[in-house]
Amino acid sequence: MNSSFVGLTALGMYVPKEIVTNDDLAQRGVETSDEWIQSRTGIKERRFAKPDEFTSHLCIGAVQNLIDRYGKDVLEGVDMVIVATSTPDALFPQTAALVQNHFNLEAGAFDLLAACPGWLYALSAAAAYTKSGIRKKVLAIGAESLTKILDWSDRTTLVLFGDGACAGIVEAVPEGYGFQSFVLGTDGAGGKHLNMRCIGKTLPDGNPLSEMISMNGREVFKFAVRVMHTATKQAVEEAGLELNDIAQFIPHQANYRIIDAAREYLELPEDRVVANVDKYGNTSAASIGLAMREAIDDGRIKHGDNLLLVTFGAGLTWAASVLRWYEKK
Ligand SMILES: CC(C)(COP(=O)(O)OP(=O)(O)OC[C@H]1O[C@@H](n2cnc3c(N)ncnc32)[C@H](O)[C@@H]1OP(=O)(O)O)[C@@H](O)C(=O)NCCC(=O)NCCS
Repeated sequence: MNSSFVGLTALGMYVPKEIVTNDDLAQRGVETSDEWIQSRTGIKERRFAKPDEFTSHLCIGAVQNLIDRYGKDVLEGVDMVIVATSTPDALFPQTAALVQNHFNLEAGAFDLLAACPGWLYALSAAAAYTKSGIRKKVLAIGAESLTKILDWSDRTTLVLFGDGACAGIVEAVPEGYGFQSFVLGTDGAGGKHLNMRCIGKTLPDGNPLSEMISMNGREVFKFAVRVMHTATKQAVEEAGLELNDIAQFIPHQANYRIIDAAREYLELPEDRVVANVDKYGNTSAASIGLAMREAIDDGRIKHGDNLLLVTFGAGLTWAASVLRWYEKK
């Protein structure tokens, strides 16, 4: 049996307790300043997971937050768990299996790696599963412990990232609600601009893979601004809507200047673009979920609103989706 309309019906989040400000980084020996970081990125602080706190713990925190918000029935019938992450606890077992076991779910479970767009890719997979009838209810998590893989000798990338997790439920929704479109794109030629090695040593074209996160900030910046506005337009058009029909735009929280440049290209007023990068830095696969959850909580996102989610990252990869928000209370 397939469902005509599927969507995100519940959303939870978790961030570690430790707040690390820009000044804290400088005090820990990083040659930087609050002024440099804020003027280049808009970031004021980020969260650091404890030394013994890993991505599975952040996932469990976000799912626990789902339960706290919606009641324990929120997990009733979950038959698939997807964890989008670039920082799994282990290569195997997959982090999703650790979550499945912790909550004792009768579900399949797998991890998905699509860098910062990972959670939107997980939502698209969850939408395909539930729309086709292959699965009924998917727990789709985006989680990162990026501060565990920071290169403390590279102040340019070090200051950008933070830890966090979001957890959503994807299932059937009433007619007209839910996902209206998905744009999913990759340009593998850009792999050299943002990478970190696993078992490989070079890219197939011979470009070296870095031991730690390595980024060509300028190239990523240009790519990000370009795809943020082209993917947004495409997702809105494919949903049969116009930019004016979108109540809130929820972009990947990497850098306030990127968000603002895309906003200007799209000629959007500031109050229709959600930004909380100042509080959390770039939490990669968790970032859109954290921004969306906070905007629901402060009343900016309302039931029935058309939302535009858009993101970019390593790969180089991008994704965008129009979601008509239906929250199952
Ligand atoms: C990373 C980024 C903020 C760097 O900004 P930039 O203006 O390109 O800065 P540059 O790398 O050219 O460095 C400019 C100067 O600041 C210095 N600098 C770099 N990092 C610094 C830091 N943390 N603190 C102080 N100074 C720093 C550089 O050494 C350089 O000094 P120089 O001119 O004396 O050589 C910017 O390129 C960016 O945001 N890119 C996109 C990154 C992103 O979003 N990635 C995530 C993808 S998911």
